[in-house]
Amino acid sequence: MKQFFNILKYAKPYKRFAIGHIISNILYALFGALSFVALMPMLDVLFKENTFNKVSKPVYQGIYHLNSFYKDFMAYQINLYAQDDKSKALIFIIIFIIILFLLKNIFGYLAYYFMVFLRNGVVRDLRNAVYKKTVELPLSYFSEQKKGDIMSRVTNDVSIVQYSMLPVLELIFREPLSIIFTLIIMLIISVKLTVFVFIFIPLSGIIISRIGKSLKRKSDRVQTEQGVILTILEETLTGLRIIKGFNAEEKFDAKFQESSTRSYHFSNKLLNRQNLAAPTSEFLGILVISVLLWYGGQLVLIDNSLDGSSFIAYMGLAYNIMVPAKAIARGLYNIKQGDAAAERIQEIIDTPNPLVDKENAISITGFNSEIIFDKIFFKYENEYVLKDFSLKISKGKTIALVGQSGSGKSTIANLITRFYDVNDGRILIDGLDIRDLTTKSLRSQLGIVTQDAILFNESIKNNLKLGKDDASDEEIIEALKVANAWEFVNELPLGIETNIGDSGNKLSGGQKQRLSIARAVLKSPPIMILDEATSALDTESERLVQIALENMMKNRTSIVIAHRLSTIQNADEIVVLQKGKIVEKGTHDELIIKNGIYKKLVEMQSFA
Ligand SMILES: Nc1ncnc2c1ncn2[C@@H]1O[C@H](COP(=O)(O)OP(=O)(O)OP(=O)(O)O)[C@@H](O)[C@H]1O
Ligand SMILES: [Mg+2]
Repeated sequence: MKQFFNILKYAKPYKRFAIGHIISNILYALFGALSFVALMPMLDVLFKENTFNKVSKPVYQGIYHLNSFYKDFMAYQINLYAQDDKSKALIFIIIFIIILFLLKNIFGYLAYYFMVFLRNGVVRDLRNAVYKKTVELPLSYFSEQKKGDIMSRVTNDVSIVQYSMLPVLELIFREPLSIIFTLIIMLIISVKLTVFVFIFIPLSGIIISRIGKSLKRKSDRVQTEQGVILTILEETLTGLRIIKGFNAEEKFDAKFQESSTRSYHFSNKLLNRQNLAAPTSEFLGILVISVLLWYGGQLVLIDNSLDGSSFIAYMGLAYNIMVPAKAIARGLYNIKQGDAAAERIQEIIDTPNPLVDKENAISITGFNSEIIFDKIFFKYENEYVLKDFSLKISKGKTIALVGQSGSGKSTIANLITRFYDVNDGRILIDGLDIRDLTTKSLRSQLGIVTQDAILFNESIKNNLKLGKDDASDEEIIEALKVANAWEFVNELPLGIETNIGDSGNKLSGGQKQRLSIARAVLKSPPIMILDEATSALDTESERLVQIALENMMKNRTSIVIAHRLSTIQNADEIVVLQKGKIVEKGTHDELIIKNGIYKKLVEMQSFA
């Protein structure tokens, strides 16, 4: 229930639709109740003698006599119009009924009409909010969460809210009002009979809420399982090549089937529980109606205190009250079901972002003198990946980071870009702690070429324009040339408009890398961070990528994470990392003379 009110907050911008909806619903409920009352004179016309002797206009004698006043008033009106002609009277009443039902349905439609905008608006805003948050959240969040689970929350859970919780908004006013109006008319017709109905309402409320009790937990299990299913699907699609190559289809199939079977059982339980709502309330209703029939029948037959047409209309109303009652019961169940989904959505939206800009964060516009790593310590989980790491990089210099796999090289790139924050120490750019800068202005000084080329299912042009929206075709071609990629792009039939497939699947490894270099070149930031992945390439493409990197580093400050040591011999300083610590530092020649770890690494590579 709490989540339901949370979701209601999203309805705020759509207040005017809500108002239109409420007004239409009030009128709908009113005309709905009245349309039953209109049946009464018709019954009288058909079955009662002496309907037309009301020649004098009746006088209103207070609420207690409203029912007979209404009947007299109608009789008087019918008499005015039809005199002695019964079939004319019938037509009069039928027209009256038609008008009431028409009005009821017009307002019913209007209520839905306004609600459509509100509902869909809330869904749109909710989905946008989760997506926005997903993009904002730090990378660390995603190493803990399964991608499929997040996807499931943005899609499935939002749909659940859309189809289970938001329809309840339609019920909030309509159904209670229908009940209230109907009850008022029932009271007017017979107070005695209506007492039974008042006993019935809280009783059935208790029974219904019993049934709905475990719905939230059941629904939560279904939704979580949806996340698992999507996770498996996502991993399958990205890893299809390996799955097939290792003949692991059956293994994955089994894993998927297991999850979807669990989901099958969970949803069976959920739906069967949910489906109990309507039949239970209908049966409870019919019990009450039986009591009413028995007691009301006594009043008509023996007591004579109730006339036939009033009794029939009354029973119609009593039966009719079950429709909104059933809807409310189902609505309550839906809220419970949607609660779990809404909670899962809210969880993402409410996740605190540890990497938000400070309130008075500085926006830098350029890079002037130096980057300093000042005694930094960093850990992803329990173990420190970087320990007491200090380094100064002056403007215009190229610094190379080398060291064994897992020594913490990529981590340095993660820290300077503020994908993660250091645990201790500081990283300064031109003397300013990067935590005091706006992330946006910090990142606009940085060009990143990641270890694995990350490209999107778009044209080459749009992939490059990621860092510079207003780039002209000439600039794009220029960047491709710098990245040594123009040669192959030019040969594609569609050139820079070529779509490169899912994560660039239509390209070779080296081509992908050169495109990701071109993307950084086009952005043209003062500081470049290259996490080189030349190991994946053959000698020819390695040479092409190498030239691209060299072109790109010209006149820039660069941090190069190198695996092929041949590529960084010209660097101004080579930093050798071992288990997160700097063990050697110097130019290539100095380090060779030193005859230490670097020299060993070089020797190892020349053997290979
Ligand atoms: N997201 C992460 N969560 C937890 N631990 C991580 C994460 N990323 C890296 N690590 C750990 O941090 C250590 C350093 O990783 P890093 O990626 O910096 O190595 P690297 O020097 O770039 O290695 P390589 O040469 O193989 O690219 C590794 O031991 C790795 O297991
Ligand atoms: Mg790495």
